[in-house]
Amino acid sequence: MRKICVIGTGYVGLVTGTGFADLGNDVVGVDINPERIEQLNRGIMPIYEPGLEEMVERNMKSGRLRFTTSYEEGLKDAEFVFICVGTPEGVDGEADLKYVRAAAETIAKLMTRKLIIINKSTVPVGTGDWVSEIVKRAQPEPKPFAVVSCPEFLREGSAVTDFMHPDRAVFGSTDREAAQEVSELYETLNAPIVITDIRTAEMIKYASNAFLATRISFINEISIMCEKMGADVMEVARGMGLDKRIGQHFLQAGVGYGGSCFPKDVKALAYMAATHGTHPELLNAVMQINDFQRKHILLKLHDVLDGNIQDKVIGILGLAFKENTDDIRESPALSIARQLVNRGAQVRAFDPVAMEHSAKSLPELAMCGNAYEVAEGADALVIATPWNEFKQLDMARVRASMRLPNLVDGRNMYDPETMWELGFNYRGVGRGYQGRGVHFKSENGNGNGSH
Ligand code: NAD
Ligand code: UDX
Repeated sequence: MRKICVIGTGYVGLVTGTGFADLGNDVVGVDINPERIEQLNRGIMPIYEPGLEEMVERNMKSGRLRFTTSYEEGLKDAEFVFICVGTPEGVDGEADLKYVRAAAETIAKLMTRKLIIINKSTVPVGTGDWVSEIVKRAQPEPKPFAVVSCPEFLREGSAVTDFMHPDRAVFGSTDREAAQEVSELYETLNAPIVITDIRTAEMIKYASNAFLATRISFINEISIMCEKMGADVMEVARGMGLDKRIGQHFLQAGVGYGGSCFPKDVKALAYMAATHGTHPELLNAVMQINDFQRKHILLKLHDVLDGNIQDKVIGILGLAFKENTDDIRESPALSIARQLVNRGAQVRAFDPVAMEHSAKSLPELAMCGNAYEVAEGADALVIATPWNEFKQLDMARVRASMRLPNLVDGRNMYDPETMWELGFNYRGVGRGYQGRGVHFKSENGNGNGSH
């Protein structure tokens, strides 16, 4: 059993701290947000994450997991302190490190013994060295410490499983012994371990996220071609993905990537590249394609509504940036909803868990009790987040209750042919081929027309 302090109890800190407690360690979670700590101490989860509540409860009961706003309490006996605070987008796309700086300074002032400081937040290359300097300068008297980069790869919605079954764990430090010691905390997870220098570890995180975002923009670009040329991107992705060198993952065309990581991390990497005198042309294209993908959904709506969005009733299914989370940071669904509101549409929506946050962010949005209410009397319906429960809808009932049968399936959840048979004017993403019985019809009047 090791003694661990986790700074920040958001998606990463709460899952990481609880995961370490579950592996038998003694963990204290520290956050500057008193409301969050009070909630946690009452057993209320500040975020929606499948499987997390039971795990927090179990470990709090066993006494291995505690939460506090006090750094003193958190650091008292800690051997390891994980920094898991936010690194949001700052000016010009640069990562804003103010929370990391504040955490590092407070740790330096209050540490009472030798400490390994681990950076789990996603931070620009060179931040580990910067944190070392901050700690040295802020310590009232010199105490031994090491800084290790241990980037996090969990995904929201499957964070608990991702913590327990990581594809790999990465540890970077100039102090190899410290990196080795941190890696031993992960030993029972049996994941492949990469021990490297600190800057390489920091780059592994950005390069991984940027690569995944690139795959998404790649398939989204192909999807636009499919629409023009009469091919089906779902089949294209399957056919490509069966090649072991390509693989099936992250080839789902849709409304573009969102969330608290990809958008800001691709921007931050491009910013870093530019400030180091390189030209991140691929990353710039990835971001442009992603921006276009949201507009593309609006163009589809424009098209099916004959260019008239104002006063139309438009229903949105899903508001979270992806399924199984309540996170709406950089959510394509919410961005589409906002643009429709700005164009004078009456927009209503349903999401299983993200409506509370969304209502605060976009009060003009009318919230409904379920998907059928969203469809009732609507002129168009947009599927924006691929929640499982949207796969199970009685689409004949949905169709019958709509004023106009326009279905824009931003996540390709439904089979085009079945939807056409039910009488929908169906528009998926990248689905130029619209089923066996339906000939290719190019959207927006472009392309080769029917053959
Ligand atoms: P979050 O916003 O959910 O949580 C951050 C928490 O840190 C908040 O509770 C906040 O109150 C707290 N905090 C801020 N300053 C603090 C301080 N000085 N001391 C103590 N607590 C403080 O953020 P997140 O989504 O968990 O992301 C954290 C980091 O991990 C970011 O760098 C992010 O890029 C990275 N990351 C996130 C994910 C993800 O899926 N969310 C995955 C991998 C990596
Ligand atoms: C991502 C990374 O996957 C994770 O490793 C990192 O630690 C944090 O950032 P997350 O943002 O939680 O995780 O979700 P992810 O599943 O990666 O999806 C990101 C966005 O891409 C979502 O908007 C999702 O809908 C979209 N996406 C994903 C696609 O549009 N197509 C795909 O094929 C996959």
